[in-house]
Amino acid sequence: MGYILVCDDERSICQMLQIAFQNQGHRVETVTSGEQACRKIDSTLYDIVVTDVRMPHVTGMDVLQHSRRVSPDTLVIVITAVDDSEIPIEALNAGAFYYIRKGPKLLDDVLTAAALAMDRSHLRQQNAALKRDAAQRNSLENIIGESEAIRQLKQTIRTIATTNSTVIVSGESGTGKELVARAIHTCSPRSSDPFVSVNCGAFPETLLESELFGYVKGSFTGATTNKRGLFELSSGGTIFLDEISETTLSMQVKLLRVLQERCIRPVGGGQETPVDVRVIAATNKNLLQHVQDGLFREDLYYRLSVIPVEVPPLRDRGDDVVLLANHFLKKFAVQMSKNVVRLSPESLTAMKGYDWPGNVRVLENTIERAVAMSTEDELRVSLPNSGSSSMSSASGPGALGVVLPPGGVDLERYIADVEKSLLQSALRRSNGVQTRAAEILKLSYRSFRHMMKKYDLS
Ligand SMILES: Nc1ncnc2c1ncn2[C@@H]1O[C@H](COP(=O)(O)OP(=O)(O)OP(=O)(O)O)[C@@H](O)[C@H]1O
Ligand SMILES: [Mg+2]
Repeated sequence: MGYILVCDDERSICQMLQIAFQNQGHRVETVTSGEQACRKIDSTLYDIVVTDVRMPHVTGMDVLQHSRRVSPDTLVIVITAVDDSEIPIEALNAGAFYYIRKGPKLLDDVLTAAALAMDRSHLRQQNAALKRDAAQRNSLENIIGESEAIRQLKQTIRTIATTNSTVIVSGESGTGKELVARAIHTCSPRSSDPFVSVNCGAFPETLLESELFGYVKGSFTGATTNKRGLFELSSGGTIFLDEISETTLSMQVKLLRVLQERCIRPVGGGQETPVDVRVIAATNKNLLQHVQDGLFREDLYYRLSVIPVEVPPLRDRGDDVVLLANHFLKKFAVQMSKNVVRLSPESLTAMKGYDWPGNVRVLENTIERAVAMSTEDELRVSLPNSGSSSMSSASGPGALGVVLPPGGVDLERYIADVEKSLLQSALRRSNGVQTRAAEILKLSYRSFRHMMKKYDLS
């Protein structure tokens, strides 16, 4: 049942509606002025507000606008005795859920509208709950792996998602640290607010500071307006500070302050602004070693390490490599409309024996490349620097590291596939600018156009 506020300067109407709603089991409060209604709306989350239009000082339209602004999930039913065709249009435009003319059927009409409003608000809540549930399942399902290490990791994610504590995710390059950070956010009560990812290694210090904390107009040349920083933009949500080890010591002091005070100060600004953001940091370095080497502040290290999460390297995940390889095979086969359906047995053996420096990212790239070049339904994978791989020793990589599959190869189609795939990559890298793509491939524009035609690319 719902929580309803009735606002009408005619006390008898308030009473009538109150009794009727209460008889249906709703919780009801009544007020007889717009001012009182606005004050109530500020402090209570009603499902429904029923308001009269014509009232002295603060009118029903004011109540409607106030409610839409401070409590957008509350549905507002507007009632009026005035016969003015402008009012319903104005009310509906301002976001009223329903408009009712006062008349002999007033009570029936209001009860019907309230029943509709309750249905709508239940549907909305259900929808939000379903979406959140699906997103959670999604974010954990995105992490492929059945090994004990990954099972435990997923359990950790579920547990810490419910807290607000700062998390540091560590692990070798390409193990899936960002994927883990996103999953923590998506499983958390913050999931409907933004997840903002910042690569701390990608900016020089002053730029990183203004990116993170924002700046005020005139604080440096080029600062022609006030600009909000990423901490403010992720308000309510999560900020992901990737490659935290790459920050300078003076930047670390500023980050420590944010974690301690939960306030930020924009560059050039005098005012501190409170922020409600969960911080997840990540590193592929040994941060404790950085502390010992004097490159990373010890106090920040301890602040960040409230909850440490370690993402295991791929070589310690047993048969997950097979699951992941098949997952990427399917993904890229669909993306590139290729008919590849399985991995060759030799490739499987080689991949299981490989130690995967570069981890899941390299596995993903390796499969992508293999799928791009494949001409058969069975995928043969050549491993990067595959010193330990049995496959490379079986067929011996050529000068370019290309492996001749045991079953031979359709050379012309193979070369065509390589050409087409390189053209597509160059186009992607040049954001579709063809002259630039031609340059990247060291081709004349004419030859480039010719090849584009040949492979039906546009
Ligand atoms: N368990 C997994 N299941 C599916 N995909 C994964 C998994 N782990 C990683 N990936 C994929 O591998 C790639 C690299 O993952 P991610 O960017 O999260 O790694 P990282 O640890 O942040 O790497 P780096 O240290 O280089 O920044 C991404 O495309 C990601 O989607
Ligand atoms: Mg990363």
